[in-house]
Parts: sequence; C-alpha cells; structure tokens
Amino acid sequence: MDFISKLPGQELSIFSVMSKMAKEQNAINLAQGFPNFDCDPTLIELVHKNMTAGHNQYAPMAGTIQLRNQIAKKIKLLYNIEVDPLSEVTITTGATQAIYNSIQTVVHTGDEVIVIEPAYDSYVPAIKMCGGTAVSYSMKGPDFKINWEKLGAMINSKTKMIIINTPHNPTATRLDQQDLQTLSDLLADTNIYLLSDEVYEHLVYDEQSHISAMQFPDLYKRSFITYSFGKTFHATGWKIGYLVSPPDLTAEFRKIHQFTVFSVNTPVQLALATYMQTPEHYQQLPQFYQQKRDLFLEAMQGSPLKALPSAGTYYTLFDYSAISDKKELDFVTDLTYNAKVAAIPVSAFYADHVENQVIRLCFAKRDDTLLEAARRLSTL
Ligand SMILES: Cc1ncc(COP(=O)(O)O)c(C=O)c1O
Repeated sequence: MDFISKLPGQELSIFSVMSKMAKEQNAINLAQGFPNFDCDPTLIELVHKNMTAGHNQYAPMAGTIQLRNQIAKKIKLLYNIEVDPLSEVTITTGATQAIYNSIQTVVHTGDEVIVIEPAYDSYVPAIKMCGGTAVSYSMKGPDFKINWEKLGAMINSKTKMIIINTPHNPTATRLDQQDLQTLSDLLADTNIYLLSDEVYEHLVYDEQSHISAMQFPDLYKRSFITYSFGKTFHATGWKIGYLVSPPDLTAEFRKIHQFTVFSVNTPVQLALATYMQTPEHYQQLPQFYQQKRDLFLEAMQGSPLKALPSAGTYYTLFDYSAISDKKELDFVTDLTYNAKVAAIPVSAFYADHVENQVIRLCFAKRDDTLLEAARRLSTL
C-alpha cells in the first residue's frame, strides 16, 4: 500500500531501544523511567476488590467522581487551591494521552509550539500530528537553565503554545517561583496556551516544594496541566493520569478525549480514589526517593562519572567527559555491552541531537540494584 507518513523519519523511541539492548545484554536497566519494585500491595488489593465487586463497565467519560474529588482534595491540601472536580479535572490514560489531547485541543495547521529541549519525547510528534511546527529552545549543560528573555524572543504571531516540564525529565532540574512568575509576565498579554507537564510533582528533594503553573492565576487560565499516577504510585504499567485545566479549556479538551479513549478503566480509578484518602501515600514520596538518590550518589562516588545535581524526578545526569569523548549514544551502547548497565543518552531528547557528554540514569530501583549498578560503574 502507498501511504504518506504522518511522522516521516520518526525513529523507535530511545526508551524502547535501550530497554531492548539492556535485555539482550543482560544489563541492569537504569535507562527507562520505571521502578523495578512493586507498587503497594494495598493498592493492588483495592483494584482486585473493585473488580470482584463488579465495577467493570465504562467509567464516566471525564473519570469517576470519587477519583476526581480526591484529586481536588489533594490540590487543596498541597497548594491551597480550589479546583472544581466536575469541570476542571479529567482522568486520562496516562499523562501521555493528556499531553497528546491538550496539543490536539488547540494546535492547528501552521501553528508554532515552543518546546524546551532536552524534551520528553512525546511532545514533538503530537505537535506534528496536528500540522503544527515545534520550535526548539535549547537548554545547555551543565546547569540546563532557561533564559526567559531568549525564549521570549522566539514568540511571534504564530506561537500557539509553550510546553514546560517541571520537575524536568531528563535534566532533574525544577522551575522555581521566579521562573514561573517570569513566564507568567511573558505570556500576560498574549493568547498563548501553556502545557505544563508536572508528572514528577511529588519527586522534589532537599526540603524544596514543587511549584505548579496552577499557583499563578494568569498562567492557570491558559494552562493544560498533566499528571501521572504511574509515576506517583510506582505503577507505570497501569497508564492512568489526569489533566487539570480551567473549565473552558477542559470542555474543549473533553470533546477530543471522548473520541480518543472515551474513558479510563473503572476499577483502577476507584482503587486510586480510596488509596488517596490517605495523603501519606503521596506525602512520603520525596523522602522515599531522596533516600534512593542519596544511596546511589554515595555509591557512585567511586565512579569516574560525575553526578550533576538532581533537584527532582527520579533521574540523575552523569557527565562522562573525564573518561571519553564519544558521542552519548555510542557511550551508552558501550556501557550496556561492557559495564552491563543501560543508560539514556540525553542527546536523544534534542531534535538536533545536541551533545553535552551526559547520560541519564534512573534511580527508581531497589537498593540492591542501585548498589550493584554503582559497583559496575565504579570499575570504568
Ligand atoms: C516528563 C514526562 N511526561 C510524561 C510522561 C508519561 O507519563 P505516563 O506514563 O503517565 O503516560 C513521562 C514518562 O516517562 C515523562 O517523563
């Protein structure tokens, strides 16, 4: 069959490539961002209970009211902000679908979307699929900061949306109050939408707090904010997340949501709603992951790989310039074959494969896995 590809030149995602290589080489997979420990048995029990109680048919299109209520309660508790669970919260099949739908909701052919690179890999294909153009703002190592003035200079009459991600995958940096205030000022007199990907909201370390686009009224009115229960509750395979957005944007989002997935699986939604009644389940996450980060960094002190600061997410970047001048993809390939540890080249998060000589390692792993990976990396 002849066809015109909607994503010509699109390669297999780097996560699939590295996970496959890790398996083939019997290497420890610190590449893809998923835990190698199980989620809380209580949560599994709750899903089971809801299934056996017969909650196995379609959920309401926007999500069960029980889960949306709990999300609104969490937002009130964490940020002291009231969102209406009926008109501002929508349950999605992972953050990925929330991101895809948000872009579909507002981007038309010919529109430009500013993407801050290195960027999570689903943003650009989603923009292309609605005929938009992704315009890259490139952050450079080692600090990977945004110069808002330079980013502001990229705005023009075609700019429809800006995408931010905080805490940030892959650089493990986070935006602070000043960053979001500056962005708010920058967008104040424009009709530009904001997609704020906050899937790592609970993974912020060193006594700092996550700052959300929701906390800035002039940002929130133009925002699609995306979250992931997979990241939060160690269950990435469940593919369930949500969107928080003001009522007018949510109404438009749902027009598309109802024809992409219609609704998300019922027993998991009901289980999560019960599980979230105990706020400790998400409040203890920074401590849980900070302990893993610190254990790993301590063990890595014997390695020639130099850690960059990890302020949030469950990743740390490592600079390997002291031991190799190879390109990042070649370096991680060597690492997988020889040291038997798989990592992600940060260059894969740039459209132009910018090289910083840094790789990303995921520390959402059991302590014994982290210690064994660090031991292997210390022999480099
Ligand atoms: C920044 C970012 N956004 C979105 C996602 C996707 O989340 P989900 O698995 O809930 O679709 C990921 C997953 O790695 C991510 O790192």
